[in-house]
Amino acid sequence: MRLSDLLPLALLPHCTSAAAGEPVIKRTAVRNDDVTISARARPDAPDGYAPAVVPCPQDKPTIRSASSLSKSESDWLAKRRPLTVEPMIQLLKRANIEGFDAEAYINRVADDVKDLPNIGIAVSGGGYRALMNGAGFIAAADSRTPGSTDKGGIGGLLQASTYLSGLSGGGWLVSSIYANNFTTVTALRDGSEDSSVWKFDSSIFTGPDLPGILDTARYWAKVASQVASKKDAGFETSITDYWGRALSWQLIDAPDGGPSYTFSSIADDDDFSNARTPFPILVADERAPGQKIISLNATVFEFNPYEMGSWDPTTFGFAPIRYLASNFSAGVVPRDGNCVRGFDSISYIFGTSSSLFNAFLLQNITSVDGVPDFLVDAATAVLEGISAEENDIAQYVPNPFLGWNRQANPAAESDSLDLVDGGMDLQNIPLHPLIQPLRAVDVIFAVDSSADTTYSWPNGTAMRASYDRSHGDIANGTLFPPVPDDRTFIAHGLNNRPTFFGCDVDNFTLSSSSTAPPLIVYLPNAPYTAWSNVTTFTPSYSLAERNAIIRNGYNAATQGNGTLDEQWPVCVACAVLSRSLARTGTAVPDACRACFDRYCWNGTVADATANVASGAGGEEYQPTFKIDNGSDDDTSAGAKVALAGSPAWAALFVGLVAAVVML
Ligand SMILES: *[C@@H]1O[C@H](CO)[C@@H](O)[C@H](O)[C@H]1NC(C)=O
Ligand SMILES: *[C@@H]1O[C@H](CO)[C@@H](O)[C@H](O)[C@H]1NC(C)=O
Ligand SMILES: *[C@@H]1O[C@H](CO)[C@@H](O)[C@H](O)[C@H]1NC(C)=O
Ligand SMILES: *[C@@H]1O[C@H](CO)[C@@H](O)[C@H](O)[C@H]1NC(C)=O
Ligand SMILES: *[C@@H]1O[C@H](CO)[C@@H](O)[C@H](O)[C@H]1NC(C)=O
Ligand SMILES: *[C@@H]1O[C@H](CO)[C@@H](O)[C@H](O)[C@H]1NC(C)=O
Ligand SMILES: *[C@@H]1O[C@H](CO)[C@@H](O)[C@H](O)[C@H]1NC(C)=O
Ligand SMILES: *[C@@H]1O[C@H](CO)[C@@H](O)[C@H](O)[C@H]1NC(C)=O
Ligand SMILES: *[C@@H]1O[C@H](CO)[C@@H](O)[C@H](O)[C@H]1NC(C)=O
Ligand SMILES: *[C@@H]1O[C@H](CO)[C@@H](O)[C@H](O)[C@H]1NC(C)=O
Ligand SMILES: *[C@@H]1O[C@H](CO)[C@@H](O)[C@H](O)[C@H]1NC(C)=O
Repeated sequence: MRLSDLLPLALLPHCTSAAAGEPVIKRTAVRNDDVTISARARPDAPDGYAPAVVPCPQDKPTIRSASSLSKSESDWLAKRRPLTVEPMIQLLKRANIEGFDAEAYINRVADDVKDLPNIGIAVSGGGYRALMNGAGFIAAADSRTPGSTDKGGIGGLLQASTYLSGLSGGGWLVSSIYANNFTTVTALRDGSEDSSVWKFDSSIFTGPDLPGILDTARYWAKVASQVASKKDAGFETSITDYWGRALSWQLIDAPDGGPSYTFSSIADDDDFSNARTPFPILVADERAPGQKIISLNATVFEFNPYEMGSWDPTTFGFAPIRYLASNFSAGVVPRDGNCVRGFDSISYIFGTSSSLFNAFLLQNITSVDGVPDFLVDAATAVLEGISAEENDIAQYVPNPFLGWNRQANPAAESDSLDLVDGGMDLQNIPLHPLIQPLRAVDVIFAVDSSADTTYSWPNGTAMRASYDRSHGDIANGTLFPPVPDDRTFIAHGLNNRPTFFGCDVDNFTLSSSSTAPPLIVYLPNAPYTAWSNVTTFTPSYSLAERNAIIRNGYNAATQGNGTLDEQWPVCVACAVLSRSLARTGTAVPDACRACFDRYCWNGTVADATANVASGAGGEEYQPTFKIDNGSDDDTSAGAKVALAGSPAWAALFVGLVAAVVML
């Protein structure tokens, strides 16, 4: 039973009427690919939120094997990699690595793309906390953010990156940026008066505060009617549809949450198609037929502007995302069959990646004033009617991988492909797409806003999960740097400061055909200047709190613009260069050696007696401000500082306290 099954459609305003139970397939003219696309290509679905049947393009869509990158991605990379050269040179020059001519080096390796550093950024899940903290990182990495290229900044890292992946709350961030013309975090944060984008002070339950335009009842009626239009068009709907549509009002700056915005239309965006942005990827996990618990062996799916599918040996295939919901069988659509467009609504995809929140929606909507009775009744019925294992699913019907890779694909015989929140397998950082050997990523900046501990701080569980997974059959050739257990993360402070994993390429035993996995720059959420450990299910945030958490993420990314470690931008530059230097046999500059000594995990683990219990008996991990949050009542900033280990930093810090207090 699904929420939409219970909705009395006749009660919905603006709802296209359909005879009860009779799906209406709407025909819509195929988009003419020769027509010049407008500057803003996102609202591209043929019929609002409803997918539509269209004639198949001449080149019929097919499922392809995951044994290579798609031609689309390869062609795009051929444009993107050269465009990262100039921003990378600027980033490295600003960092000014002593005794190393970065400009000459990059210019030299730029001729052979395989030697050029290949950068990825991964933003974890964790609801709004992850969105805001991740946004702080992106703002710091974006050269368009005022001040980001000043001393101590890392601005330009985003412009030098090839990939940007997001999962669950991190997927909201990535989606919001790309659905809004690759705009800046600052612009999304500041918005405009008549826009509801990033206005997190209005909860998703009551809807945006757009006086005179919308109240809670009309907001939910609009959401419900958008979802009903998908059902009317003959497609399955689930709670994920409602969740995604409701969230859209906060993430997509367009009327009614932009019901026509699709993921595939990012490919038509001028900035993306000209490779002026990184390649965005969202992640979800498969719930195989009959499976209840999502284990580390669950198949990991990705969504990118060209495709959705999996590199795992189970599904090992990709579908053209623009034509999802066409009747693929054994990889092809029937000879005389039509195709479907518009199923890949960006809201359905970020809703899928964050389907953990389906229960949050169901459980909370019943207690909000102004929600129409029919919705409350429907939600109550769903809560009473279905098991908790089922309400977190996003259904992909028809299953694009029906009859595909029969010997290994768990859903090969199923009409539905069921996907859930990308963090359900504990891999809460979307590293999977970026450790694929075919993508040859050299360094991943992994922003972790997981709520692992009692007080919603990360403890490395997400990293450890990806490391553990690299040892199973499911790994299919992916490698992952060694990562210690959660106790070591806490006992050695690896979850409280940036930590590099996999620094030493010589430490990997590689076959002739494999290359070292990326170096991972792990950036755990910690209190730099704000209590950024808000709980995952907090539904609204004052704009001041939102800004403080974004700023905290910014300060984590820059180590307080270098106040915690003046050498931090150098160390970021060294991480970027590391694999490339190894490939070209270039000596590692001394300044980089010093960075690696300071930031690389040295391979030791906490002994059994270390007091890191999370709750019972031991002391709970309770970090204190690493800088200061700038509050006036906080006069003893120096005393409150928890330095992340090195006494050298402490000395540096003491001299800077006066400056910091003023920030
Ligand atoms: C999108 O951004 C680009 C560059 O930032 C700008 O030139 C273009 O006008 C923008 N388009 C819209 C519709 O905002
Ligand atoms: C990955 O899985 C596919 C499908 O099972 C297989 O053909 C391929 O050889 C595997 N790759 C590696 C490197 O193990
Ligand atoms: C896909 O198959 C179903 C079931 O046979 C059919 O109802 C539907 O119209 C088909 N869709 C398209 C786009 O051909
Ligand atoms: C809202 O949802 C969360 C997560 O499902 C739940 O823990 C909480 O109790 C709900 N709040 C209300 C008021 O129902
Ligand atoms: C680390 O986090 C996981 C949840 O992700 C939790 O189960 C585990 O107890 C935590 N361990 C410590 C030592 O905090
Ligand atoms: C995952 O697969 C491996 C084999 O690669 C197996 O040893 C392990 O038990 C499986 N784990 C789960 C949770 O199913
Ligand atoms: C490795 O790091 C741990 C924790 O920071 C430290 O206690 C230990 O002395 C280091 N070991 C070496 C060999 O540097
Ligand atoms: C700073 O911390 C204090 C104490 O926790 C808190 O009251 C205040 O709201 C915080 N200010 C900011 C800007 O985060
Ligand atoms: C770092 O710079 C940013 C942007 O200028 C600013 O918002 C932030 O407060 C600064 N942080 C510190 C600790 O100075
Ligand atoms: C080197 O590799 C071994 C084996 O994989 C691992 O146990 C060790 O922790 C690694 N050392 C570092 C510094 O990563
Ligand atoms: C945030 O972290 C601090 C320090 O660990 C803790 O005292 C506080 O209760 C936490 N807040 C939440 C909402 O968990």
